[in-house]
Amino acid sequence: MKTYCKATRFFSIVNLVKINTYRIGFIGFGHMAKIICRAIIRCKLVARSQILFMRRDPRKIHEDEQAFGITSTSLETLVSKSDIILLCVRPAQAEAILKPMAQLEMKSKMLISILAGARLSYFEKFLRSTPVIRAMPNVASEVGEGMTILTPGSDAGREFQSLANLIFNSMGNTIELSEEHMDMATGMAASGPAYVFSLIDAIARTGERGGIPYEKSLKITAQTFLGAARILLQGGGVSVEDLISQIAVPNGTTEAGLKVMRELEIPTRLQSVIAAAAQRSQVLSEEFL
Ligand SMILES: NC(=O)c1ccc[n+]([C@@H]2O[C@H](COP(=O)([O-])OP(=O)(O)OC[C@H]3O[C@@H](n4cnc5c(N)ncnc54)[C@H](OP(=O)(O)O)[C@@H]3O)[C@@H](O)[C@H]2O)c1
Repeated sequence: MKTYCKATRFFSIVNLVKINTYRIGFIGFGHMAKIICRAIIRCKLVARSQILFMRRDPRKIHEDEQAFGITSTSLETLVSKSDIILLCVRPAQAEAILKPMAQLEMKSKMLISILAGARLSYFEKFLRSTPVIRAMPNVASEVGEGMTILTPGSDAGREFQSLANLIFNSMGNTIELSEEHMDMATGMAASGPAYVFSLIDAIARTGERGGIPYEKSLKITAQTFLGAARILLQGGGVSVEDLISQIAVPNGTTEAGLKVMRELEIPTRLQSVIAAAAQRSQVLSEEFL
């Protein structure tokens, strides 16, 4: 597998903190925690001996210890021996962790929550002045192209923010947003890959109907999305409109397609898709409180 390690590049730019002196504890070690842990190990952010984890299933604890070369422990030990605690349980499982955590010594601890829909105020209820950062990674983190939205709580200082950036830059890109924008960003980035898969599939099926085998058609489309995204991410000061007009020469193929896109109001319809997801995220966040 291709190795990704964007955090090293980020570190050389920001160079604010030396993360390799910190100890990291994962509370919950399921799908998302494993992606984060793999990235931390791959990028050598800290040594394996500085990583602890906890989960409930004894059989899986043993498997994970073997697979990752890290040690599992109790909540008490994890909290006392970790500087950065990553809360990676499901939202409904959080209270069972946060209640006992509230009884432990949390001085100089930093908490990163990846729980969808759990607002900063939820953690303050249990942990009061413990610095908290909300992180919302997406599935592309698994291939080093994740988009993680970071929302620091009021007690999260610059050093903690740099550490969180380093961790999530090891599996893609990060953007910092205030909490009021988290629901919209959830619709865009957390749900976003599903919409992109759906669009890619629709285009690939068109190729298939035109006689190109589906697998080839899928590759053509996925690479086209990736290439277009790379151009935008690399910036270069060219606007989206200018990029489009560079391809869409008068009476050409692109212009013919763009005309139909406009007639079908595809951009407006896509805005409605994202707005629906954002609205659902807001409802779920309110229910969670
Ligand atoms: N998956 C995504 O794409 C994604 C994206 C962004 C954010 N998130 C957020 O990430 C969080 C984790 O999602 P996931 O998909 O990784 O879930 P998951 O695979 O179900 O993992 C949950 C983990 O929490 C552990 N756990 C639950 N209760 C526990 C307790 N009382 N003590 C110790 N460990 C406990 C489970 O351990 P056992 O299995 O051993 O019981 C399991 O290892 C969720 O809050 C979700 O909102 C997920």
